[in-house]
Amino acid sequence: MQLGAYLLQNRIKFMRNLIILLMMISSSVLLKGQNSDFLKMLEYGMKAPSGHNTQPWKFKINKNNIEVYPNFEQELLIVDKSHRELFISLGCAVANICITANQLGYAYHREIIQKNNETFIRINLNKELVNKNILFQQIDKRQTNRSVYKNKLLSQDTIDKLRKLKINPPVSIYFYQKGTKDFNKLSDFVYEGNRILFSNKDFKSELLDWIRFNQKDIENNKDGLAYNVLGSPSLPKWIARPIVKSFLKPKSQNKSEKEKILSSSHLVLIATSDNDPKDWILAGEALELFFLKCTELGIAVAFCNQPCEVETLSQELRAEMNINNNYPMLLMRIGYSEEMPYSMRRPLEDVMIE
Ligand SMILES: Cc1cc2nc3c(=O)[nH]c(=O)nc-3n(C[C@H](O)[C@H](O)[C@H](O)COP(=O)(O)O)c2cc1C
Repeated sequence: MQLGAYLLQNRIKFMRNLIILLMMISSSVLLKGQNSDFLKMLEYGMKAPSGHNTQPWKFKINKNNIEVYPNFEQELLIVDKSHRELFISLGCAVANICITANQLGYAYHREIIQKNNETFIRINLNKELVNKNILFQQIDKRQTNRSVYKNKLLSQDTIDKLRKLKINPPVSIYFYQKGTKDFNKLSDFVYEGNRILFSNKDFKSELLDWIRFNQKDIENNKDGLAYNVLGSPSLPKWIARPIVKSFLKPKSQNKSEKEKILSSSHLVLIATSDNDPKDWILAGEALELFFLKCTELGIAVAFCNQPCEVETLSQELRAEMNINNNYPMLLMRIGYSEEMPYSMRRPLEDVMIE
């Protein structure tokens, strides 16, 4: 290499390292001096589930409260055009923050604030004597488990425990046992959802953009759907992307979906009385509580959300299922399974705002 080119290359390397260093310093400044209890609450907030693991939240720490904002840079334009799932994800993070607040000895008052066309959540925090929520222990253990389950029915006693979970209006949870007419009807909605979504090239391209095909891809992004979580081998992206793409077809998706649904015990539908950001956030809070309770009981959970994601199907589902005219928000399957690998999260400093 010529001397001039060598010096230029070194200078570029130096500048790049300098920029990385400056970014690291500025982000650690954001965390420095912050209330350590509040930081802990956010650390647990971020362990919440989110659509495609987009982690679409931004957090602001104030003297006596934490604010949770949507991060539209992480939006899913095709599958979640209305941002419904984005706000549900925020609700999940809020539930974790509130449970952790109690764990650290804080009472909380959670407000959903809607002003100037903007929706965000403020969690007011006050140190006082409070009851701890035993579900806190489950936050670290919770995971979306997309494997084929063990084909074992949940006992009535276990279902009763899930039903007893304190879920407040406007959110309702419905259970459908395998083999029943409604279970089969809902399964057909899922297969039809797959048929519509996996015939849509924009949907497939968005999904592929969020798949992380190997460890380096995971480390570089720290979000998205990791190959090991999806049960795929680690491969270079240029090999893996076309292979995965070839499987994103209605027929192959429905073949594996059917096996998974039939290996589960129940389908579970979460619905709300309105279809607006406030109810979406409340649905997210309920989802996370339900998820944590399942984790406590050793029950695996995965999403079969397709009928809620296709507008026409969501309307049909609302009209045809006996759900008091509520709006379908989330459809899941539950059952028993071995543990799967865990998803990556971005560092806290990346999602903090001043
Ligand atoms: C609102 C919402 C919608 C989701 N939809 C789906 C889905 O349709 N299919 C799926 O496999 N996972 C779905 N998930 C699960 C996420 O992909 C998962 O939470 C994320 O990858 C992080 O993984 P974890 O839950 O194991 O922490 C959804 C999660 C949320 C909160």
